[in-house]
Amino acid sequence: MTAYYLTTPIYYANDAPHIGHAYATVAADAIARYQRLHGRDVFLLTGTDEHGVNIERIAAQRGITPKEQVDGIAASFRELWSQLDGFVRTTDPAHRRAVLELWQRLQTSGDLYRGVYEGQYCPRCEAYYQPDELVGQNCPVHGLPCDQIREENWFFRLSRYQDQLEQLVRDTDFVQPESRRNEVLGALAEGLRDFSASRRLVRWGIPVPDSTDEVIYVWVDALANYLTGVGFPDDPATFERYWPADLHLVGKEIIRFHCLYWPALLLSAGLPLPRQVFAHGWLTKDRHKISKTTGNTVDPSELAAEFGSDAVRYYFLRAIAFGQDGDYTRSALVARYNAELANDFGNLVQRATALASRNAVPASVDGDLTAPEATLRTHANVLAEHVSAAFAGLALDEAVTAIGEFVNQANRYAQLTAPWELAKAGETARLGVVLDHLVEAARLAAWYYAPIIPRAAAEAHRRLAGSAPAVGQGWFGAVRRGEVVSGPPLFPRVLTE
Ligand code: MSP
Repeated sequence: MTAYYLTTPIYYANDAPHIGHAYATVAADAIARYQRLHGRDVFLLTGTDEHGVNIERIAAQRGITPKEQVDGIAASFRELWSQLDGFVRTTDPAHRRAVLELWQRLQTSGDLYRGVYEGQYCPRCEAYYQPDELVGQNCPVHGLPCDQIREENWFFRLSRYQDQLEQLVRDTDFVQPESRRNEVLGALAEGLRDFSASRRLVRWGIPVPDSTDEVIYVWVDALANYLTGVGFPDDPATFERYWPADLHLVGKEIIRFHCLYWPALLLSAGLPLPRQVFAHGWLTKDRHKISKTTGNTVDPSELAAEFGSDAVRYYFLRAIAFGQDGDYTRSALVARYNAELANDFGNLVQRATALASRNAVPASVDGDLTAPEATLRTHANVLAEHVSAAFAGLALDEAVTAIGEFVNQANRYAQLTAPWELAKAGETARLGVVLDHLVEAARLAAWYYAPIIPRAAAEAHRRLAGSAPAVGQGWFGAVRRGEVVSGPPLFPRVLTE
């Protein structure tokens, strides 16, 4: 089995997860499930980013230790996801070993040197800003004042990798989507500046070796989680199996770290580069980024408790063009739930299973096929092509749209062939052909939906085929069908306020 390793950013352990974090992890989880359904040996990693000055300050404000602060938050991030292969906490001893090994390699390459940093630092971004990057006097991401700092620390020779990074970004698909690639090329055109790889005024972090009063810069620490998660440096077999990562999924505000700092650090450490960094957009509310700082957060657990996790996943993946920002509204979620899940997909499954469990459906059809069957089968082929093209470019919303279109085509097929009339008229041979096609179309829809709405899709697939979705069943007639059974609605309609 070919390996497929993908990661989410590791989330700052400064506050409870909100739907912005959930959005990023849901997208990664959908990709992981899709790759698994296509036979890949998938490893999905996420975790929490627990060091740095921001967390140090938040803990101080709350009168607790930084460790007490991050323990509680890490647990709530971990609880949110049941289906993960790895979860790195940057306070784990194994992670510390990975960071120190990385540091050692940077030193050996001669890429660390002493220098003095004087300028702006945003504690929330944990990032250094040049004066021309500020908006007014404020951080461009948070819109809040930066710290003015002056300290001697270790610098990393980023500038040394200017040409290699230019080539990487220009000549490969390392940065996607295109808009972000252009942004990174723009940053490269301005010339890369070395950055401070340690902090002296910060206590909460991994201490710099042979130094008493310095910690490793939290971004160097955090980026290394992608190595820790697959066994670097303790478990070379696992590391060999999964590294380099196929995909780092990140929010668009952290591309500088992932598309410039990270590959340079890896080049310096003599480690292979990940294949791609894909930057998704922001979930916004009233056009403002959802964040703790803005104070407009929504709790993903509450949404999932109300509508089911499938509905929340579906909304994120269908309603927002992947790579762009999307405005969250509860009413849009409810509208899509009712129209596309309860009505379109839910009814298709309900109709197919109800009819098929009342009438005998042949396991495979030898009866005469007519034009509607031919059309439906053509649509099934088109579905396969659309979904695979969409996932290849990580156009997740387009994949979901294509499945929804197929659901509509299957519902149209039912209208056109009216199996309920055939049953009434006792046309058993024709009824057999139609029910076979209807059940199989509904099964295909469920199979393709499995990465998007895993619970409902698995349940639908079981009712329609007698088994859960498995590898290689994405074509018409791929499954030897068991007994068709009906059940309660997969998506009971919810009332609109
Ligand atoms: N800890 C760093 C990342 C280190 S990765 C080596 C960090 N953490 S964060 O918690 O601030 O944000 C992490 C990610 O959460 C973002 O990059 C993004 O993927 C996701 N999101 C946080 N808020 C979001 C929205 N409002 N909308 C979409 N995604 C959001 O940066």
